[in-house]
Amino acid sequence: MAGKKIYSVAVDGPSGAGKSTLSKAIAQELGIVYVDTGAIYRTIGLYVQRKGIAPKDPIAVAAILPEIQIDMKHGEDGLQHMYLLGEDVTTQIRLPEISMYASDVSAIPAVRDFLMEMQRSIARKQSVIMDGRDIGTVVLPDADVKIFLYADLDVRAKRRCKELEERGTPKPFEVVRKEMEERDYQDTHREIAPLQPAVDSIMVDTSDMGFFYARNLLIDMIEGSVGL
Ligand code: DC
Repeated sequence: MAGKKIYSVAVDGPSGAGKSTLSKAIAQELGIVYVDTGAIYRTIGLYVQRKGIAPKDPIAVAAILPEIQIDMKHGEDGLQHMYLLGEDVTTQIRLPEISMYASDVSAIPAVRDFLMEMQRSIARKQSVIMDGRDIGTVVLPDADVKIFLYADLDVRAKRRCKELEERGTPKPFEVVRKEMEERDYQDTHREIAPLQPAVDSIMVDTSDMGFFYARNLLIDMIEGSVGL
């Protein structure tokens, strides 16, 4: 790479579009940091679940935010480890029931405000590829490259089923498909920072793309846009 310019890549899209798998691989190839912002919302969702609080109750959720300390560290294994009050919760936040908790709490304005500076400060310090739902629209509106990944619902649900199977927590396709549809609807229709493509994002439909094809395509786009 010529020079030491700090740049940022925003990757948004619905669940199962390939955001995390592709972003992780791209980060490795380009030698930049991958930030999975969904994991941060999941960490708050986990805390709310443990406290027995209704995740859609904005007052109750906002009230416990000052108690929450979240840390993020990138381990030697390349994994983004999430810490909740010092406890490594990287595995727990991936439990399927936490997905909806994360989506529920993420619709609460106080939660989004709470996390905004944390996400922005990471991107100020180093080059990042950050994935989520509102990275190109709200968190990093000046990102050098904005990518919006999407794919057919059936394809996304199939990918999620495969992932769940590999993790040893399989679920029937129809259940996964329905849950995914509900969560995407909720993330797209909330009032604050809904999932939507930034006007200046590059739209990429990954439905018929294999992993390597998609990875190389996105790397070419990023290198072209950033001038690497
Ligand atoms: O990317 P994920 O599926 O792990 O994210 C979990 C939930 O967090 C998702 O349903 C919506 C919310 N989220 C968000 O609102 N904004 C982000 N930037 C990332 C995630």
